[in-house]
Amino acid sequence: MRILSLAVLALGIAASPTRDDDAAFNNAARFMQEDGAALYGAICQGCHMPGGGGAVGAGAYPSLAGDPRLAVAGYPIALVLRGQKAMPGFGRMLTDEQIAAVLDYVRTHFGNDYPDKIDPAAVKAARQ
Ligand code: HEC
Repeated sequence: MRILSLAVLALGIAASPTRDDDAAFNNAARFMQEDGAALYGAICQGCHMPGGGGAVGAGAYPSLAGDPRLAVAGYPIALVLRGQKAMPGFGRMLTDEQIAAVLDYVRTHFGNDYPDKIDPAAVKAARQ
């Protein structure tokens, strides 16, 4: 897979050296981490803080610690896919598996105890 996309990238550069290659752009805008903790650290923690405690400053970033609104997985899935108010959506930057992984992490840390794993198929379905 990686070899294939490198080949596509090389072809794109050879064919049109001045044009940005779409495949390269998509790759650059995607997060590569697969692990829920790593994804949280790379993306969510900047706003929701390490430990999920949230913050109030230039904006209000709700606490994800002991958050009863995480109980039903459909709510955080929709939020991470599409965003809401000051929270950006990440649907185009994360795969179904990455969204499931980061939410599995949040739903089982920071005082949350929702051990039912999110099926990436549920994320896929929520994209429609
Ligand atoms: C740029 C800042 C920012 C980033 C990055 C961010 N969020 Fe948020 N998040 C917010 C804001 C602001 C809200 C409140 C949205 C609103 O007002 O409805 C929010 C709300 C939420 C909620 C709803 C909480 C509740 O109790 O209603 C969840 C769940 C959530 N974020 C999860 C995540 C996850 C998981 C990530 C990482 C993939 C993430 N957020 C990344 C800013 C951010």
